[in-house]
Amino acid sequence: MLKRLILIASSSSSSDEPWARGTPLLSTSDKAALSREFPGVEIDAPCPPGDEPHAAVDARAWRASALDLWALDTHLHALDARGPFGLRLGGLDRESAARAAYEVLTRCQRFIRRRNLASATALFARVLGRHRELHDLDRPLVRADYDHAIDVWQWMLRLDPRAGVAAQAAALFHDVERLVSEANVRIEHRAVDYQAFKDEHARRGAALACAALAGVGLPPEVLERIGALVGSHERPGDDAELALLNDADALSFFSLNSAGFVDYYGPEHTRAKVAYTLRRLRPEARAHLPRIRCRPEVEAMVLGEPRRTSAPAPAETQA
Ligand SMILES: [Fe+2]
Ligand SMILES: [Fe+2]
Repeated sequence: MLKRLILIASSSSSSDEPWARGTPLLSTSDKAALSREFPGVEIDAPCPPGDEPHAAVDARAWRASALDLWALDTHLHALDARGPFGLRLGGLDRESAARAAYEVLTRCQRFIRRRNLASATALFARVLGRHRELHDLDRPLVRADYDHAIDVWQWMLRLDPRAGVAAQAAALFHDVERLVSEANVRIEHRAVDYQAFKDEHARRGAALACAALAGVGLPPEVLERIGALVGSHERPGDDAELALLNDADALSFFSLNSAGFVDYYGPEHTRAKVAYTLRRLRPEARAHLPRIRCRPEVEAMVLGEPRRTSAPAPAETQA
């Protein structure tokens, strides 16, 4: 579990100037905002003595298109499997530190595993356990689906800290159907009718989710509600929890999945997926996009602009 974010100034930044020594990289308000957004993580923690397990990210490399997220994720998975770990974010100056910390923590939020009152229970621990049992994490596509499910759950709690147990369980199980249809190879780009393909994925997922969760102790009406949410999760609708699930799912596509998506499927299908996913976002949720780090190719798709060769500042480019 991610417990600590350590911020390290660039050796060439103005933080090294004599007048700036000892001045924190984050303002008090930025540190408080990050602590609220990422509970459980000690923000701007002092560098611990000894060899605390940690991953290192350089803020300048973080902006680059060629950043090897697969290598970073592999390292984070290994650290997480061993217990608490820290993240050292280097190459910072005071102008960029808050934004870089926000982007990196968003990308790593599945290792925080925040809960609220509805999910800090023994019952929800059984829901999480059942969800984990279904996933063979040695299979790359199954690992990706597991990470996405946890990430959607975390986005949901960021968007609505009062989300109920049915909505949170639906976030975990919404794509469980892919364990049947796409565990070895993805097929969605071959669909003749993409919406029909997604509707069928949702319909089958509802039955699988209900079957998987039978016996964990959820009341029947909660189980039925989870089935209803999973069964219609590819269409936003007016239902508040369904819209919340769509928002969380769509934001997770951009913050976690989109970089790998463009590598796997190529630009043509990614462009269609970006358009489909943007349509699922409500305006309030879409407002998060400027603070999510996407690869420049994906940012350009979001904007409908030609591909850029270097990462633009999201605040400058995304509506
Ligand atoms: Fe889905
Ligand atoms: Fe999803």
